[in-house]
Amino acid sequence: MLKKRGEFKVREFRTTDLERVIWINETCLPENYTPSFYLQHHFEHPKAFLVAEVNGEVVGYVMCRIELGLSNIKFGLARKGHIISIAVLPEYRRRGIGETLMRKAMEAMRKYGATEYYLEVRVSNIPAINLYRKLNYKIVKRIPGYYLDGEDAYVMARPS
Ligand SMILES: CC(C)(COP(=O)(O)OP(=O)(O)OC[C@H]1O[C@@H](n2cnc3c(N)ncnc32)[C@H](O)[C@@H]1OP(=O)(O)O)[C@@H](O)C(=O)NCCC(=O)NCCS
Repeated sequence: MLKKRGEFKVREFRTTDLERVIWINETCLPENYTPSFYLQHHFEHPKAFLVAEVNGEVVGYVMCRIELGLSNIKFGLARKGHIISIAVLPEYRRRGIGETLMRKAMEAMRKYGATEYYLEVRVSNIPAINLYRKLNYKIVKRIPGYYLDGEDAYVMARPS
């Protein structure tokens, strides 16, 4: 197995990745989606739905969309980049893949006109919270019982 940071490639999701991305999502997260949900995001914002490959095999993904709504960081409306889902297979973690997926997704959302980014994260998900803090996201609110099992979410956000 590759151990060094940087020995991976990030590219846009293709429809042929769908089955693998769904499998990664179901392996890593309790929040799962229908195939059409993934495809909708791919068709609407193809540059902001990315996968990471190691030796030609997809090992992680990030899926995003752009929304017009109330800003999470200032008064008024904003064009917000929403990170819907991100996951890296357990054996490929801690080598910079999640951080690179986030950075490239943010770049893409900026190109789509996002002036801020946000996401929801389980209050117990320390690896993910640390990743977002490292990227300068701040906790802007806590949503009680956001997840199906009753766990609270933090909303974390930052300007673009
Ligand atoms: C969150 C996740 C995507 C991070 O992916 P990753 O490829 O391991 O992340 P990186 O190697 O790029 O780590 C970047 C930073 O995140 C933080 N981090 C990542 N894993 C961590 C861990 N296990 N413990 C503490 N901090 C961690 C660190 O700050 C790290 O920076 P450092 O390596 O300089 O210390 C991955 O753990 C994952 O897929 N988790 C399951 C799915 C999930 O929870 N998704 C988020 C839902 S909101």
